[in-house]
Amino acid sequence: MCGIFGYIGKKNHAAEIVLDGLKKLEYRGYDSWGIAVKKGTTIKRERHVGKIGAAKTKLPVSNLGLGHTRWATHGGVTIGNAHPHVDCANTLCLVHNGIVENFRPLKEKLVKKHKFLSETDTEVALHLIESKAQKQPVARALRVAFNQVTGMNAFIVLNAKKDELLAVKNGSPLVIGVGKGENFIASDLWALLDHTNRVIFLEDGQLAQISAGQVKLFDAASGKALKPQVKRLDWQAQQSRLGRFHHFMEKEIYDQPKILDDLSRLSPGTIASVTRLIKKADKTFLLGCGTASYAALFGEYLLNFSGYDAQAIVGSEFQKFARLLTPKQAFLMLSQSGETIDVVDAVNLAKKKKMRVVGITNVLGSTLYRKSDLKILLGAGQEVAVASTKAFTAKLAILTQLAYQLNGNLDEAKKLIAQAARATQGLLSGKVRADIKKLATKIKDEDDIFAVGRLTSFPIALETALKIKEVSYAHAEGYAGGELKHGPIALIDQGTPCIVIAPKDQSLTDSLSAAHELKARGGLIIGISPQNDPVFDVHFKVPDLKEASAIPAAVIAQLLAYDIAVARGLNPDKPRNLAKSVTVR
Ligand code: G6P
Repeated sequence: MCGIFGYIGKKNHAAEIVLDGLKKLEYRGYDSWGIAVKKGTTIKRERHVGKIGAAKTKLPVSNLGLGHTRWATHGGVTIGNAHPHVDCANTLCLVHNGIVENFRPLKEKLVKKHKFLSETDTEVALHLIESKAQKQPVARALRVAFNQVTGMNAFIVLNAKKDELLAVKNGSPLVIGVGKGENFIASDLWALLDHTNRVIFLEDGQLAQISAGQVKLFDAASGKALKPQVKRLDWQAQQSRLGRFHHFMEKEIYDQPKILDDLSRLSPGTIASVTRLIKKADKTFLLGCGTASYAALFGEYLLNFSGYDAQAIVGSEFQKFARLLTPKQAFLMLSQSGETIDVVDAVNLAKKKKMRVVGITNVLGSTLYRKSDLKILLGAGQEVAVASTKAFTAKLAILTQLAYQLNGNLDEAKKLIAQAARATQGLLSGKVRADIKKLATKIKDEDDIFAVGRLTSFPIALETALKIKEVSYAHAEGYAGGELKHGPIALIDQGTPCIVIAPKDQSLTDSLSAAHELKARGGLIIGISPQNDPVFDVHFKVPDLKEASAIPAAVIAQLLAYDIAVARGLNPDKPRNLAKSVTVR
């Protein structure tokens, strides 16, 4: 969602530095953008609707700048609603991520004395800060205003009168990059890596006052000074590059064999510490959003098969379990970004209930990573495309190892994951790759596509449909094979593509029966299975890797979704209306 980047320091091309930072945040998803710089004691800004693309900035030289990519919540996608917003005197500007829930009553009071130029809740917060700053320093005014607004918010103020950036947050992520004679702030660690590897993660309820040579930290509630904890990142986090690929989604699908192979060598100690927790717990909840929620469901099946009580929850619905949570239960939270608001909310609740939280995430230092008691990193490298691919199969690989370790079979799981890595490699070139492209061209104009699977293939069917929806905008639905007769089969018509995921497990016969039922109604049956069957019109052969068969099946689905999007002339990296990191409710 909204991306934020700010610079203060010795260089005088702040606008370019900020623009460059915003480009690195583009992958989060946005619909408009803007930059502001300090000029004398006033603000100069430019704002635009649409993508940054090859835009250059014409803003004047300055050593202090702030920028924002906006994903609209309050107020339409217009230049007037794009951030940064400026106060009446044009000496303060504000960028914001989140939602000011009590903006209406606040605006009613402020509107008498302040000129409102947009429909945003952000501008309400800005004028509130401005009104408070009439009698006290801006840092204190921001603190008082922050304590008056409700909701999960990150605010960054550029104060042109004092050469400072001020940041405060509750919920939305913010990271300060500490340089020499210069400092940075961003909503995302990846955007800082070209500048520095020394960072301060701003925690909820903290306020930072940032000048070129110093970062001061305060508790936002009390105003008490805090000691900033500067962390040196000693890991090789590289900004992802496209290389020979056309899109990041394609690149990330091709990254998978290496990631899976690495995960097959994940330290047994890491796996064992989590399984010890699961064994001790009365029950294990698995939680995620979007693609991660399907990984959670896969985990639920596997843990149940291993004899452990497990339940998957969709992040946004976790409140229904609030009264049932006890310290004797374990919580596995799955999130590529580690910043999804519903996951962060769930971690906070779980911690309140004194539950032990395992964070399975791709981003070191993310909120989920920092708050979890036990952590497993996906090690998938930066995922840029909005639709998650490599983080999904990485989660499947980890969950498979956890489930096998519960029964003392970790070595077997490791072998299966290594085989899945090789099988995935095999899908990425030669005949299979060509056949997937051919199929995508054939079905690209279909409006409805169905995916079915049973047991561990059910979450893969759901993910298959989600991937197709996200990037190609075709209507796609995933179903449990056994549910077809209870309604969905009414939708099958002549030529309707039906993807049937049929691994060689206890569900094979039933899955093939479902394929026959679909075919009898005219469905075009696309089988993903170790063995061909006359019922399949198109067959993609995958090896029999027991539970890990889900991995190559998911990769075929990803490739198909990618190819359909490309065949439809769409950019799969930046699907309309979607954001990579959903940091507002
Ligand atoms: C957004 C993305 C999805 C992703 C979901 C969860 O909706 O568009 O691709 O699956 O967030 O993200 P997370 O970072 O928590 O895995």
